[in-house]
Amino acid sequence: MDIIETLNAAGQQELIAKLESLSGDARKNLERDIATQDWEELKALYTEKSNASLDDNVSGELKPMPFKIATDDLRYDFWKETGEILLGKGQVAAFLVAGGQGSRLGFDGPKGMFDIGLPSHKSLFQLQAERLQNLAAQVGHAIPWCIMTSPLNHEATVNFFTEHNFFGYARENIRFFDQGTICALDPNGKAVVDENNRLALVPDGNGGCFRALAQSGTLAWLIEKGVRYVFLYSVDNALCRICDPAFVGALASEGRSMSASKVVHKAGPNEKVGIFALQNNKPGVVEYSDLPENYRDMTNADGSLTFDGGNIAIHLFKTEGLRKLQTSKLPWHTARKTVCGIEKCWKFEQFLFDAFPQLGTMMPFGVVREEEFSPVKNAEGNDSPKTAREMIGRLHREWLRKAHVEVKPGKLYEVSPTLSYAGEGLSRRVFERELGRNILEFDEE
Ligand code: UD1
Repeated sequence: MDIIETLNAAGQQELIAKLESLSGDARKNLERDIATQDWEELKALYTEKSNASLDDNVSGELKPMPFKIATDDLRYDFWKETGEILLGKGQVAAFLVAGGQGSRLGFDGPKGMFDIGLPSHKSLFQLQAERLQNLAAQVGHAIPWCIMTSPLNHEATVNFFTEHNFFGYARENIRFFDQGTICALDPNGKAVVDENNRLALVPDGNGGCFRALAQSGTLAWLIEKGVRYVFLYSVDNALCRICDPAFVGALASEGRSMSASKVVHKAGPNEKVGIFALQNNKPGVVEYSDLPENYRDMTNADGSLTFDGGNIAIHLFKTEGLRKLQTSKLPWHTARKTVCGIEKCWKFEQFLFDAFPQLGTMMPFGVVREEEFSPVKNAEGNDSPKTAREMIGRLHREWLRKAHVEVKPGKLYEVSPTLSYAGEGLSRRVFERELGRNILEFDEE
């Protein structure tokens, strides 16, 4: 079918008229944009979603998914050692999904470039690069690092890494690749065209990561390297323990599951985190925006939240699971947003955690929020640069205190990830030598 027929069948006559009004490069560019889209799928999506109500996002009964804090488990040290061995064999890779637009933070650029205002002024990307390199040095093997961007931030991301010499990371161990995009539709289901006569293409959600990983050749690259576990994480968690050995070891020892996810106790009913739940007896995550209020506010007899397992967007997948995954079967979620000045446009996105129901059982791995979760979402208030600075400052002070270092009351500390990955290797001697260099002191605000 040629492009005109395809658009006709999809009810996009206005787009045909637009295309026919253009000539030369403008026409070629629009044609190229049009060719990237599956018009039949877009039509079906619009028809389905415009006839659905919010409750349709959660069908059937929801049951909470129980989880335990992993450090309380007697097997924790065994898991950690197992993970270190696997990392040492080169079987673990890091996968950062960083194609989002970070609009809530109000920072104009890839979120990973953001400086949260620590005394070192390191960006989120630099903190991650240093943590990974410290861990790689400890286990004696490089850790491949896959970074997914979107066409909107790819160039800026790669330029930032290049300008900073990849923060010391060996270039051959990093792969950048773009995620796919999907056309925004106006309230009547018509493709939105911007002022440059290009389609309004928006990233297809972090669930696009599986398709992008495979189509970019990165999954094959990982498999060829012998990678068996892929640690998937979001760009904005300032406390992310990337490639956490205990997490890797726990999934490897458990055997059955194709994936594992870190879980925290929710801070309260209104915290904007997805929750782990069993939907029709299948494990998965229900996003905060899709969770009906009766479930959100449900409490147990002791007053605690029933749906208490918060998603911190840290997951681990076996590569065999990633190979089996049928990306075409991931559901699409919708948001109504202003696009190119048109209110209530339809934006479609896939969520990465929708892979879990396809993969069968998954392993929840409970972690302590203060040690592992400090997302930078908003410019001020909750989940902001200020809360992230404070959480890092307190956690690192605690690391030093546990190492029997006398820390000053009221002061916070930033320990460079080049010195310690998760609090190990600190002592009074190290503190005295490194204070002012790799250990920086700052004030509570
Ligand atoms: C996400 C989780 C939510 C969790 C919360 C914890 C999803 C869908 N939601 O919500 O359940 O509780 O983190 O902080 O995962 N991204 C892309 N491409 C896109 C869109 C997003 O790569 O098209 C990336 C972002 O760059 C970011 C991550 O996905 O690294 C999370 O996306 P974001 O939109 O920030 O999700 P949240 O609403 O914070």
